Amino acid sequence: MYKTGIWRLAQSVRCDSGVPAARFDPNQADVISYQLLKEDSEEVFEHIVRHLRLSSGIFRSTYAQRFADLDPLVNEILKNNLRAQEMEVHDWAASDCRVSAEWAVSLWQHFPEARVIASDVLLGLKEASLRGRKESYILEADGTPLQYVRPPFVLSLQKPIPAHYPVNRWLAKRARAGLVNAQNAARKAVGDNWSVQEISLIHPVARRLAAKDSRFEVRSHSVFEALPRPVHAIRTMNILNPGYFDATRLRAGAAAVGASLIEGGIWVVGRTIEEPRPARNCVSVFQKTGRGLALLERFNGGSEIEDLVLEGVSAGTS
Ligand SMILES: C[S@@+](CC[C@H](N)C(=O)[O-])C[C@H]1O[C@@H](n2cnc3c(N)ncnc32)[C@H](O)[C@@H]1O
Repeated sequence: MYKTGIWRLAQSVRCDSGVPAARFDPNQADVISYQLLKEDSEEVFEHIVRHLRLSSGIFRSTYAQRFADLDPLVNEILKNNLRAQEMEVHDWAASDCRVSAEWAVSLWQHFPEARVIASDVLLGLKEASLRGRKESYILEADGTPLQYVRPPFVLSLQKPIPAHYPVNRWLAKRARAGLVNAQNAARKAVGDNWSVQEISLIHPVARRLAAKDSRFEVRSHSVFEALPRPVHAIRTMNILNPGYFDATRLRAGAAAVGASLIEGGIWVVGRTIEEPRPARNCVSVFQKTGRGLALLERFNGGSEIEDLVLEGVSAGTS
């Protein structure tokens, strides 16, 4: 008849001999309120980010140490190909920027003056709550709705609700009827009966690093936009994949990377294959040359878009 959700920490975390431990039911991954991203718990933050799906269909999924095998290999390539101490490297589509912070710390061992810029198209969500009522909408920055939270219910406003949950379906219909008021309040950042709050999608570890070390920065940026000034290296992991974009968009992404690199600059592109465990990072590393982008290295069979990038080079489009 209905499925309730997780909207407060007490439901998702138990204390085992004084140490908080997560106890997430995999069947409830789709009904965890994104409001819990505001809680002071890295474990809860990471769990939610791993399952968070944007309206574009692209997942935020990332996790600590995802590129623990890749970072040393890439750093070695940078050492062998770039001399500049004051280099600038970018991690595009970095989700919560946790792995960017890890890359920064490992890169600084070789290039102590390197600037590391982590970016993503979306760095935060908006929470519009009706004052005096336990009723909230979670929206993307442009107002696209992701969730409606009315304890004990947490409803996705993106995915269809199965017919065997008629109560959830009825509630979602009601939520949609009130959506425009929430969107108006979120746009103005205030509304007569509404309070509006930002929910950061940046991992606390990355936020702390950016706050204390000016060599690390988090910015908003789309992988389809060239940078205003060319940089030494760009990483685009788990974004420029055929599963997310068609060939035209992938070429546009490759062209944006090409236009954003200095001559001799390095592009790291690929996908993490999660199953079977252990996960593998299948990556191609390109170098910008006078002719375009040349393949420099390949790990675990390379990126799915390697051919598309190389075809673009011979056609002069990358
Ligand atoms: C699967 S995550 C990859 C995160 C990280 N790079 C990793 O591999 O662990 C994909 C990310 O791409 C971001 N994204 C989607 N479209 C984008 C765009 N046009 N430009 C930049 N980022 C985008 C999403 O917000 C999401 O955080």
